Amino acid sequence: MDNQKKRSTFTGSLGFVLAAAGSAVGLGNIWRFPYLAARDGGGLFLVVYVILALTFGFTLLTTEIAIGRKNGQSPLTAYGAMHPKMKWLGTIACAVPMIILPYYCVIGGWVLKYLSVYVTGQGAAAVADGFFTGFITAQWEPIIWFAIFIGATIFVVYKGVDKGIEKLSKVLMPLLFLLICGIAIFSLTLSHTDAAGVTRTGLQGLKIYLIPNFEGMTAGKFLRVVTDAMGQLFFSISVAMGIMVTYGSYVKKDINLNKSVNHIEICDTGVALIAGMMIIPAVYAFMGNEGLSFAGPSLMFVALPKVFGAMSPVIGTAVGIVFFLTVSFAALTSSVSILEAIVSSFMDKFHMDRKKACIVASVIAVVLGLIVCLGYNVFYFEAAVPAGGQILDIMDYLSNSVLMPIVAIATCILIGWMAKPNSITDEVKLGGVKFGREKLYVVMIKYVTPIMLFVLLLTSAGILKL
Ligand code: PHE
Repeated sequence: MDNQKKRSTFTGSLGFVLAAAGSAVGLGNIWRFPYLAARDGGGLFLVVYVILALTFGFTLLTTEIAIGRKNGQSPLTAYGAMHPKMKWLGTIACAVPMIILPYYCVIGGWVLKYLSVYVTGQGAAAVADGFFTGFITAQWEPIIWFAIFIGATIFVVYKGVDKGIEKLSKVLMPLLFLLICGIAIFSLTLSHTDAAGVTRTGLQGLKIYLIPNFEGMTAGKFLRVVTDAMGQLFFSISVAMGIMVTYGSYVKKDINLNKSVNHIEICDTGVALIAGMMIIPAVYAFMGNEGLSFAGPSLMFVALPKVFGAMSPVIGTAVGIVFFLTVSFAALTSSVSILEAIVSSFMDKFHMDRKKACIVASVIAVVLGLIVCLGYNVFYFEAAVPAGGQILDIMDYLSNSVLMPIVAIATCILIGWMAKPNSITDEVKLGGVKFGREKLYVVMIKYVTPIMLFVLLLTSAGILKL
């Protein structure tokens, strides 16, 4: 097909690894990983997470990247190319990023808003209770920040794979790594005495984060630690939404996939671990255990501004700027990958050029994103899904908790039982590459991973309560 001959590629393995790591390292690493670790027994969660990354994560990531490279197609058509009975899987795998992109960009807009708050020296205002709610329920402001964020995303994707995505990742990812390490070191040096005269240090916070805590641990609780870690890992490596299939399809045949997968995982897990060192010590020093009970968005948009506000004004502003800059880098390289999965699917399936596919995908995302923004005012209601909440939460529940586990389970069945594991292992071993953990891969893809995913689906969809 001439469509395939013209297919864009990453220039080399560094570009590929950084782009894929850019997708994997996102909001989840920074705001979700740290609070799960603090809640789920500190070091215990970390150990479980790393073991899962080396088994479960490695299996899913290898599978998707190899499916992409083997067929040189994006998700909408690649799954069908592996087995004709699995065409439907491509359709869902392409629907997932279409659901995620709008709300991911809305949150990206919130991050930019906070960046602007610190850049203009108004960090003190963000300390007030109700600041965050006031902002997201406002009529126009969230829409404007969403427009800026998605505009940047569209611009990068429009520029293409090597000149847009790869270039962006090569600049932002090393910077992100440096900034995050810088804040983590700063966070460890903190010490704060609260109004009651109690002094807490960052190093004490580090202990909570790193030392395994088995207090009150029961089998049921341990299972929750495992499912939390699995859910987090699953979201963090950006699988089950076509992204890694898409990026895999841009990888040249002479690149060592096995090594690349390892490098992507090291980046993703490394950044998550360091993000914990950046957030937990600071939150603990300034807010104690109460601070650690903040979860999800409120950790980032409510608790951390309070921490920055308790520092001296100059330092608080500087740390606020660096922090939200880091988060916006992480969010942008992820949102770019989500849009690329959709654009590339449209290009392959409907034979559109990049420009046209980009416009169509962007229009859909902008319309849905507007609805998400309006979900906090005009279309406000309390949803009855297990996660509760507004339109954003419903989209998040549908994609992350329901569709993504289904896509991943179907992928395991496709590879483990229909196309057979050697369809993937042969692709990895192309050109004489050694596939370390090949036997593990086969057992994981056929038996262990689908069973784990099924348990994840039951818990994340709220059917099984732990
Ligand atoms: N992996 C990203 C993170 O950890 C999340 C993401 C989700 C990226 C969906 C792309 C698509 O935040």
